Amino acid sequence: MRGEPLESDMSDTMAGLTTTKAPFIEQAQANGEIYIRQPYELYSEENQQTWRSLYSRILPRWRQCAHPKFLEGVEKLALDPDAIPRLEDINKFLEPLTAFSAKAVAGYVPAYVFFDCLRTRAFPTTITIRDKALLDYLPEPDMFHDVAGHVPMHTDRRFADVLVRFGEVAQTAALTAAAISDADKRYRRMDSVLTAMARFFWFTVEFGLMRYDGGLRVYGSGLLSSFGEISYCLESTDVQREPFQLEWVINQAFEIDRFQPLLFIVDSFHHLFDLVDSLEEWMKQGKLDNVCPGAPSSTQEDIESFLNAGVAE
Ligand SMILES: [Fe+2]
Repeated sequence: MRGEPLESDMSDTMAGLTTTKAPFIEQAQANGEIYIRQPYELYSEENQQTWRSLYSRILPRWRQCAHPKFLEGVEKLALDPDAIPRLEDINKFLEPLTAFSAKAVAGYVPAYVFFDCLRTRAFPTTITIRDKALLDYLPEPDMFHDVAGHVPMHTDRRFADVLVRFGEVAQTAALTAAAISDADKRYRRMDSVLTAMARFFWFTVEFGLMRYDGGLRVYGSGLLSSFGEISYCLESTDVQREPFQLEWVINQAFEIDRFQPLLFIVDSFHHLFDLVDSLEEWMKQGKLDNVCPGAPSSTQEDIESFLNAGVAE
């Protein structure tokens, strides 16, 4: 049904599945549910319009700026420019390629649960979509970021292996921490290791650039789902672009509420995979135990999700 919903008649259907405004999600969170179904019937016409606007305006920029493997992924998933995708349809195309699947979640997923999902080739996926008044930026992940920004890369076998390897590194982190007998020391180490991992993930999977054909292309999902930043990150003279250096990345704080002033370049997906190997090696050598403080700071819940997992393994 078209038209603005009346404020006095905000049923679930009319409220739709707008990020931070969806009663269905609030209810799931209140029930402590992490994994949910995608209640497709709840998307409002406004939600569908938002998807169409986001998709149609970014498509030319994807063709210009995105890594070809991402563009291949968009084709392979048969993403519909005109309708919010059903995760079950996406998974029909995705699973035969890399065994990855998109798994609907109600919102925040504890850090260890998130990384362990990657290890088992599941990708926790937000099913709400941003408010149409906030097309350009919202701090929370939404379906356009998760499905249009992340999932196309998951069709590529080498990139999918990177995510799995990252999940394995998270498992190593949990086991390494569990071996420390002093509780305070264990907590502090985990805090630092988790900060290092989050920075690595941010400057690769979320905001990574890759060399391609004598230039640079975008493979990071935060950039791929941002109409403004996807070209800014390649063209602006205000952006510092550096070859990926592990020691720098794990000690580099970042802020999420602005275009990134500093980005790191990898040579290839093989290079990226080797860097995840190095991250694990550095972890085992204790080189992630005292990284530079600063954002992102891990929540107590995130740290405890790792510590509990290490004890349970
Ligand atoms: Fe993301």
